Amino acid sequence: MAQPMPTDNTFLHFPWGPLQMECDARDLIVEGEIPADLKGSLYRNGPNQRFSPRGDYHLFAGDGMVHAFHIANGKVDYRNRWVRTAKWKIEDREGKAVVNAMNPFDCEPEYSDFVLVDKEGLANTALVWHGGRLLAMEEGHAPYELDPQTLESIGSWTFRGKLHTAMTAHPKVDPKTGEMVFFAYMATGPFAADVMVHKVNPQGVLTESIHLPTSYSSMVHDFVLTENYIIIPVMPISGSLERAMEGGPPFAWEPDKGVQIGVLPRHGGTTEDIRWLDMDLNFVFHFMNGFDRDGVITVDACQMEHAPLFPTVDGGSTGKTEPHLTRWTIDMNADQPRVEFERIDEFESEFPQCDPRYVGQPYRHGWYTSPDGQLASGMEVNDNYFNTVGHFDHETGAVDRYSCGQAMTSEALFVPKSENSAEGEGYLLSVVTSFETRTSSLYIFDALDLAGGPLAKVHLSHCVPAGFHGTWRPGD
Ligand SMILES: [Fe+2]
Repeated sequence: MAQPMPTDNTFLHFPWGPLQMECDARDLIVEGEIPADLKGSLYRNGPNQRFSPRGDYHLFAGDGMVHAFHIANGKVDYRNRWVRTAKWKIEDREGKAVVNAMNPFDCEPEYSDFVLVDKEGLANTALVWHGGRLLAMEEGHAPYELDPQTLESIGSWTFRGKLHTAMTAHPKVDPKTGEMVFFAYMATGPFAADVMVHKVNPQGVLTESIHLPTSYSSMVHDFVLTENYIIIPVMPISGSLERAMEGGPPFAWEPDKGVQIGVLPRHGGTTEDIRWLDMDLNFVFHFMNGFDRDGVITVDACQMEHAPLFPTVDGGSTGKTEPHLTRWTIDMNADQPRVEFERIDEFESEFPQCDPRYVGQPYRHGWYTSPDGQLASGMEVNDNYFNTVGHFDHETGAVDRYSCGQAMTSEALFVPKSENSAEGEGYLLSVVTSFETRTSSLYIFDALDLAGGPLAKVHLSHCVPAGFHGTWRPGD
């Protein structure tokens, strides 16, 4: 018999708490009008703990559950499924949690080496559609393939045996070439001080892997791809097996390690060609986009003063921090290039996005989620719920926002109106959870008129737990 979830962990209760069912819902109720040219599938991924967890539950440790909204002909069908990873299958059979995914030393004795040898992980963070495959990613393991229509678990995907590392949750697909570039941190083993960059051609064939030693073992969440550079931010969430064996946190905020930004020439760059640049202390989970012109690299990041959600090395809290859109400038023509930065937006922002047809290119339009300051969360790390979607115009600096009120927004994804429509012309899609009804709805906005409110709200009769990232698969 499955045991109740602990009551003292925020992330096991609304709006994060796990959904205990898998379901199909056809022809959802729509308020407003689904745009006739919006055809395809929106996928969302997030932690959805199957059983009462072992030890202190961390938000990043939940079992992955994927939610799909299939949109066609003005109608929407919905389906959600857990990803059947090795851990999920074992625990489903045992009827309880047997391992702690964040701590290899906390497990049932018969699974004592499971976390260290497991190849499938949690598949709980993000999704990408590339080379005709839908892949669910975490970042500590290889991706996991799902059927794009049914969400049936197909299995771990290692690019026909060529991938020997994990895969970040934030791969980048070059819109001009169709190439997918991604990386893995701690690439050659648990807590290793290195990164491996991988390139995959549009057919899904892994063509190149580049090994990059780093000065310390760091958890690297996202990176930046431009036409000519691959930018790897090594920021001080350090990983330490020694610390873990002494009872300390395996991963911790350790500012003394400093920030080093790796800049690798994208075409022909090898292990020897990376340059590590200094930058003042800061932390970034997510980048909006980046591009380069005449050797000058521009990067837009949702930047914080320190890392939230991770303890200090002695197990303490790093406290409150607010991410703001910040523009980096790196002049690679300088004798000793540095990363200079400047905050460009007054509002807090996270889950930044750009028009996917402009990844790595000079661009104008970006979107993000944000709080409106009116809905207190009671959380130390950030005392406001993110209940607002925002558009940032890099040309004018103008911000267009819409608050969903007593609600929480998911990452908002941009979908172009058509292949040939202008940059930014299209729709912004976000799953919004109401605090009043405790149910979720898919909101569809005109991406360049957020303040005008959603064009359509597509209602579910249940709550999609607050999750991380999603992706869009265009329809026929
Ligand atoms: Fe992320």
